[in-house]
Amino acid sequence: MPEVRLTPDWNLELYRPIHIGVAGAVAAALAAAAAAASAGSALASAASMPLLGLTAAWLQRRRSRPSTSCRVQGFLETLEARDRYTASHCSRVAAFADLLAEELGLDDPKRLRNLRIAALLHDLGKLDVSLEILHKPGKLDDVEWRQMRAHVQAGTRRASCLTAGVRRIIAQHHERPDGRGYPRQLKGEQISLEARIVAVADAFDAMTSDRPYRKAVGADVALAELNRTSLGTSGRQQFDPEIVAALERRFTEAAALCTAEAARESSPHA
Ligand SMILES: [Fe+2]
Repeated sequence: MPEVRLTPDWNLELYRPIHIGVAGAVAAALAAAAAAASAGSALASAASMPLLGLTAAWLQRRRSRPSTSCRVQGFLETLEARDRYTASHCSRVAAFADLLAEELGLDDPKRLRNLRIAALLHDLGKLDVSLEILHKPGKLDDVEWRQMRAHVQAGTRRASCLTAGVRRIIAQHHERPDGRGYPRQLKGEQISLEARIVAVADAFDAMTSDRPYRKAVGADVALAELNRTSLGTSGRQQFDPEIVAALERRFTEAAALCTAEAARESSPHA
């Protein structure tokens, strides 16, 4: 398996989005649906519908209150109108999170519901980051990074109308098991399982998506990088190794979401 060296803190950089058309995300979802259907996975039904329809149907299935469903859908429409990459990224992260939750045996309906909503909205705070920063093709300077990192608190604030469970996942999705994450430098199980799931799903999708200054890497390469950075060597551990192992067990289905079609649609200045 080829090794890829990304920046030491690559997961931070990956939050600067490029545009992948939602049509590409839907095409990817359809590809995943075909793969998942043959595997009899719960992902099949979720992945076979476009982003917003998927959300509405899922919320309905979970018997979410109409007000919650409307709010989530409203947030997603706002994200999509401003920045298509973030919206399509969020939809794929939600699909990966579903897959990981299933593999990890997370079956509490309330926790699953919170996980799905938080995965869909984890980058809601990007609405408060300037498009110049979000679309900057080169490296961000320190001031820009501070603004980028602030999307976590901004997203948590914007989600104040949602449950505390959802807000907690959004607030923790950039924390790391080794305490080097942000904004609170939480460690290990101080970070909720759901937030650790979103972190892995988020990184996997970010690595397998094209960016202005580097091409997407293959799903196998992304998995290798997740494995490497979850080992905990030299006191550094970026991801929960049990969740990365779960991704490895469901690799075929996860890789089906990472179609070249989605990557081809990217455009740094769209
Ligand atoms: Fe984020």
